[in-house]
Amino acid sequence: MQEFLQHLAGEIDKLHEAKTYKTEVALEGPQDHRVRVNGRDVVMLTSNNYLGLANHPRIRRAAIAAVEAWGAGMGSVRFICGTQTLHKQLEATISRFYETDDTILYSSCWNANEACFATLTGAEDAIVSDELNHASIIDGIRLAKAKRYVYKHNDMTDLEGKLKQARSEGARFVLAITDGVFSMEGELAPLPEIIAACERHDAALVVDDSHATGLLGARGRGTAEELGVWGKVPIHTGTLGKAMGSAMGGYVTGPRAVVETLRQRSRPYLFSNSLAPAVAGAAMEAFRMVLEDPSRTATVQANARYFRERMTAAGFRIPRGIHPIVPVIVGDTALAMAMGKDLLERGVYVSGFGFPVVPQGHARLRAQVSAAHTREDLDLAVAAFVEVAKQHGVL
Ligand SMILES: Cc1ncc(COP(=O)(O)O)c(C=O)c1O
Repeated sequence: MQEFLQHLAGEIDKLHEAKTYKTEVALEGPQDHRVRVNGRDVVMLTSNNYLGLANHPRIRRAAIAAVEAWGAGMGSVRFICGTQTLHKQLEATISRFYETDDTILYSSCWNANEACFATLTGAEDAIVSDELNHASIIDGIRLAKAKRYVYKHNDMTDLEGKLKQARSEGARFVLAITDGVFSMEGELAPLPEIIAACERHDAALVVDDSHATGLLGARGRGTAEELGVWGKVPIHTGTLGKAMGSAMGGYVTGPRAVVETLRQRSRPYLFSNSLAPAVAGAAMEAFRMVLEDPSRTATVQANARYFRERMTAAGFRIPRGIHPIVPVIVGDTALAMAMGKDLLERGVYVSGFGFPVVPQGHARLRAQVSAAHTREDLDLAVAAFVEVAKQHGVL
């Protein structure tokens, strides 16, 4: 045991030496457009709370009402005694949102992605995946027995090649999977081209729209709506932990046979507790809010445009795009980390990412804009960025 613990401590030391040891900043209150850190209110510019619902009065009330009506939890998986009509209502609400046959809830989108591939495919099948897909997709694919084909990031020629190869190597069924939005860049997958390629090679397409549901498209339906191909993505996975209330939970939504197979066979569903009523109640209210009024979606989009324009005008290197994820590229990892620290000192909380999370030389501060931000919040953030960048010789 002693040797084992010494080994682990040595591995942790290596993280410190490589400056990749992660520390956590404890918020002293709720997640919102401003948060309390070390006794001070700072602009929160690094959260996935895209619609600003994490601390919204309607969402808080819905969570509390769900506890009052349904209790704290189920003490069970869904198929034994863990299904309340509340869970069925949330699944029906998500299906209404996506205009799909059915939806299955998981305790996270990580679990949803972990469930999908091993359950829906067998050893005779193929899975074709973008190289930069989220870690949960990569791990989910590792659990599957199907043959794996990884295509270069957003490279449609390589996707076409891999789909062809899967077919020529005799795959029974082919499943293609992409993030709708890639979270390090706020970059959208070219869904119209991906859909066309899947149609040409008779592949089933799964899109993980965790960073798009509620915030992209005129009605907040996500990447497919944004790119004019609404209704053409057969299977979506998504999270309840970002725009849609920011609590936790995930889902797969799509054709009845897909959802039914997952309900019967997927291990994270069969062997893990059902969503707590407070979480289900909060998520349902978030979907209702987006269904009945797309104005929050319009606000986060307008805030993203405003922040991107102001930062670009100030001279920062911002990759072109529309998403509220706004990467501010500074190059060096240590510089990104130091700037993040100084920005927090100046009242703006934004995370720095460096190698190996992003390629060498592409370290960045990743700003994330919310519908809850006021123009004052965003102006303050831009001013702090300019000040800190000048101090570090970036501007
Ligand atoms: C694309 C993508 N998929 C899945 C997840 C996991 O979501 P959850 O927090 O619901 O497990 C994330 C979260 O970072 C994500 O960005």
